[in-house]
Amino acid sequence: MKPNKLYITTPIYYVNDYPHIGHAYTTIAADILARWHRLQGRDVFFLTGTDEHGAKICEAAKKNNQTPQAFCDVISEGFRDAWKTLNINYTDFIRTTDRRHEAAVRKLLTVLHDKGFVYKSTYHGLYCVGCEKFMAEADLDENGCCPDHRQKPARHEEENYFFRLSAFQEPLLALLSDENDPRHIAILPRERRNEILGKIRLGLEDISISRAALPWGIPLPFDEKQTVYVWVDALINYISAVGYAGGADGGDAPSFTDLWPAGLHLMAKDILWFHSVIWPAMLMAADLPLPKKVFAHGFFTIDGDKMSKTIGNVIRPAQLTEKFGVDAARYLTVSLFPFGHDGDISWDALSDKYNVDLANNFGNLISRTVSMTQKYFSGAVPPAGDGTDLVARVQAILAEIPATMDGLEFHKTAERLQAAVTLVNQQIEQDAPWKLAKTSDPRLGPALHAYLQSSAVITLYLAPFMPDMCQKIWASFGGAAPVTEAARNYFAGGRDTLVCVGAVLANPGILFPRIQK
Ligand code: MSP
Repeated sequence: MKPNKLYITTPIYYVNDYPHIGHAYTTIAADILARWHRLQGRDVFFLTGTDEHGAKICEAAKKNNQTPQAFCDVISEGFRDAWKTLNINYTDFIRTTDRRHEAAVRKLLTVLHDKGFVYKSTYHGLYCVGCEKFMAEADLDENGCCPDHRQKPARHEEENYFFRLSAFQEPLLALLSDENDPRHIAILPRERRNEILGKIRLGLEDISISRAALPWGIPLPFDEKQTVYVWVDALINYISAVGYAGGADGGDAPSFTDLWPAGLHLMAKDILWFHSVIWPAMLMAADLPLPKKVFAHGFFTIDGDKMSKTIGNVIRPAQLTEKFGVDAARYLTVSLFPFGHDGDISWDALSDKYNVDLANNFGNLISRTVSMTQKYFSGAVPPAGDGTDLVARVQAILAEIPATMDGLEFHKTAERLQAAVTLVNQQIEQDAPWKLAKTSDPRLGPALHAYLQSSAVITLYLAPFMPDMCQKIWASFGGAAPVTEAARNYFAGGRDTLVCVGAVLANPGILFPRIQK
């Protein structure tokens, strides 16, 4: 990968249903990260997409009386729409039914086969269509059902092709545990890495990578009667999107060398095994570079329950944006509980956080500083003065954010931002500018200048979370350039005045109207 380029991925989501807040959680997080790194001057390639093959999709299409392709087209479009609604600025959207993807899958499987990592054998065992996964008896609950899907997995016996995953047990253990190994993949959070290492130590078995009787998939290049197992197919999206097999005569496109390996694969813990064990083994077998980081965030429940259509508690992205607006929905989703952990969400908790962080704290700060400037200085930004170190104190609080963002600690980042907002609001209470105005105290102008300047810095840090809102605030502060440009300049070390003396502020109106629960 070229220096300064950063390649970030979300999982590609199954199209058996429209997106819900669970999918949105990962995608918003990835978008915030992508925007953050762009503001730090990096050239980010951010990939998301849809996973469209396999038995699960086939069944869903059948239930809907549609061909699998027609069914996938509609729901994949639904994902794009949802991401548009949430202002997700991805670089590329891959579908596993794309031609470019099929070419990459065929090429990689040919390489694995040619290198002797694929062999034919009989598979007998259990398969859960819900998980699209082969299950061991030990994975099932006391009724013999898949614990996640409450269904008995189907018994299968068929001739399949297998991938020699077992050959990678020792190399994987070495490179996942040794941070100095040049091929090291960081699995984060750290507890999850230990779980994965423990599971690898129990032993890796070869895995079946094809299906004999499932036409809705990519045919195996060396046996067209079988199709590629959907998980193997899906993982390859990460290279097909950036040009593997995308060049002339089956070669790779130049973008592949520019972008691969990925800097970060982001997902929830449910699919960490595939990304930290099976995917690296496939890449090693093909002599391809390995991703740098795999981060698994937690799963959330809604009002204490698993999100499910049967319970009827599924939250869709549009419901969130209707209630809170796009920017607040993005901020709230990732800041409600620590990203690497499991957590519970509820409409009440979201509304409370909205009112506390956005309506009462940040929104209030912006509207009161702008309206005081309008009232006391006809809207023109007054000059700075000595005697206040407010901006420096705000900057000191925010200085921790690069580290919290590197650790994907969105929750801590939001907490730092709120601490900075609270500090300025407290300073305003303490200074009581309305009293200074009554006595024409000369400290009034410098005090307001410091509030505005502090609010501007906070706005730059908040921009990846709330891009449109921050742009609006920035424009109301008289910023002629887009907020993203100002932020890039600021983070590159440009510490000059953010709000220009004499610039006339516009009133941005009510930014975050309070919400009744
Ligand atoms: N298609 C596979 C992924 C293939 S990637 C090569 C898949 N798709 S999925 O549609 O089931 O999406 C799983 C992902 O959705 C999780 O890893 C996570 O990113 C997100 N989430 C779905 N429900 C979630 C919660 N309740 N909580 C947090 N994240 C959730 O697996």
